[in-house]
Amino acid sequence: MDAAALSPNERFLLDFHRSHAGATSEFFGPARAPEGGDSYDRLAALVPAGGDAVVLDLGCGDGLLLERIRQRRGSGAGLIGLDMSADELAAAARRLGPEVLLLNERAQAISLPPASVDVVLSHMALMLMGDPASVVAEIHRVLQPGGVFSAIVDGGPAPSDDGGPAPSDGFACFVESLRRTMRAAGRQPLQLVHPTFASQQALLAHLGEAAGFSDARVKELAVSRREPPSRLWELMLLTYDMAYLSPGEVERVRRDFLDAVEALRDAEGMVACSIGLRQFTARKQG
Ligand SMILES: C[S@@+](CC[C@H](N)C(=O)[O-])C[C@H]1O[C@@H](n2cnc3c(N)ncnc32)[C@H](O)[C@@H]1O
Repeated sequence: MDAAALSPNERFLLDFHRSHAGATSEFFGPARAPEGGDSYDRLAALVPAGGDAVVLDLGCGDGLLLERIRQRRGSGAGLIGLDMSADELAAAARRLGPEVLLLNERAQAISLPPASVDVVLSHMALMLMGDPASVVAEIHRVLQPGGVFSAIVDGGPAPSDDGGPAPSDGFACFVESLRRTMRAAGRQPLQLVHPTFASQQALLAHLGEAAGFSDARVKELAVSRREPPSRLWELMLLTYDMAYLSPGEVERVRRDFLDAVEALRDAEGMVACSIGLRQFTARKQG
């Protein structure tokens, strides 16, 4: 990959994942949906349990989704992970071994041949990718006609505290602490999520029929976990925002958050932390 051709956001992401490989799976792996399972399981369920479908995971990180698919299928044959971070891929290689093909590439320029993949999946990565039109065109190009594309992306910003009720959830509480600190410091929010992925309507407009997909649908989801405040703070330290702030600002968020989250402890001293997600699913027109 040509480092000089990377955008500022891509350089930020590469730096972050160099020192925090596996951060996403550490948070989302143990987080459960109300109906059971986690957000990786939701995507893995789209891969037929038997058979040898070729599956591409875009922005695969340290490979937890591919591991879930391999468990379902009993084999890693035909599984491909792609990520621009060599550090995440090194962690994926440790998790998955040599059976799974790992490509150190940008999703905007995939080296696979046309119509060579049966299922394209992506967990919490698509919304970070710049030039989404190129990414969507690449997904369309590598998929077989009739092939399935499904991505879980960020569910959008939590409601602001301006005049609203106090948050009743640990993650919303963290977002409010972050906003208060950024406002006080006069800092602009970190803008990593591309607007194409910021709403249901935008997802359907950019990834639906106009992009050559049919049966497009979007489902809102939430996953949550319960943790003591100190563990919750450790997890919040794995967010991109914390790498964007100065050490002094991080300390201010920590104090504000730990103070505010006290009121949310349940009888066992735990705090619930839930994150809204959005799952887009479609089929390449045959
Ligand atoms: C939030 S992490 C998610 C990792 C993994 N999918 C998971 O959920 O555990 C986002 C991943 O997308 C990768 N990524 C971001 N933009 C990319 C791009 N344009 N091409 C390839 N990978 C990209 C990052 O390097 C990072 O590993």
